Amino acid sequence: MAESKQPPINLTGINAAIIMDGNGRWAKKNTLNITSGHERGVDVVRKIVESAAKAHLESLSLYAFSTENWSRPKKEILGIKKLIISAIDSQVPELINQEVRLNFFGDYSSFGDEVISAIQQAEKETAFQDPKLKLNIALGYGGRTDIIKATKLIANEIQLGRLSVEDISDETIFRYLQAPINELDLLIRTGGDHRISNFLLYHLAYTEIQFSDTLWPDFTVREFIKCLERFSKTERRFGKRAL
Ligand code: IPE
Ligand code: IPE
Ligand code: MG
Repeated sequence: MAESKQPPINLTGINAAIIMDGNGRWAKKNTLNITSGHERGVDVVRKIVESAAKAHLESLSLYAFSTENWSRPKKEILGIKKLIISAIDSQVPELINQEVRLNFFGDYSSFGDEVISAIQQAEKETAFQDPKLKLNIALGYGGRTDIIKATKLIANEIQLGRLSVEDISDETIFRYLQAPINELDLLIRTGGDHRISNFLLYHLAYTEIQFSDTLWPDFTVREFIKCLERFSKTERRFGKRAL
């Protein structure tokens, strides 16, 4: 679908996320190396981000690398590291043009100083006060680690007398979690598997979840828009009696 032909859809205030799975299988299917699969995945990210901004989403959180992904071969991790740096380099000017605020969350320190400073620079350059879209990238992220870290921070605040046990609420927990969103409205997972793979565990309480068999490098703006349209037609009941 040509970018200009995107049908009008208004999802103001909606927080969406994607588990971008299938790069490895796509590479294998096309007899390419795994890094080419991840590279192709980055091309798709660019198009989907543009489309998310046009659909007026509040935020888009992308699962790029999980805590479990550290157990992948060193060569693959090195390829991903180089790709993060080159993707930031090539895409930040476009994000600035589109007024998209970029934010990374998770523990990505093991990728090294070059990645850390590229991320800090990109976050600084895109720190719009009132962005058209908040683009959050989960890198070295795990939902359980996130909850454990938040629990420790809260326990510490209590020990220091800055927080009381009675005051712990949903809002408190969201405040101490790394992920820069609260409620997650829509989660899409590509690649055909029906699992969460340790993504935003606490945030998923009332999320609409959609699974697609498409491998991430084959995912299109057209399919993304279909997901958004399906979401906008869903009746969200939050436990209440249907009207
Ligand atoms: C997702 O694609 C990207 C990362 C986890 C970094 P995969 O590399 O997991 O692709 P498949 O699941 O092996 O096809
Ligand atoms: C989930 O994909 C993580 C990301 C997309 C970054 P994985 O390929 O790592 O998940 P599993 O192994 O299928 O659960
Ligand atoms: Mg996978």
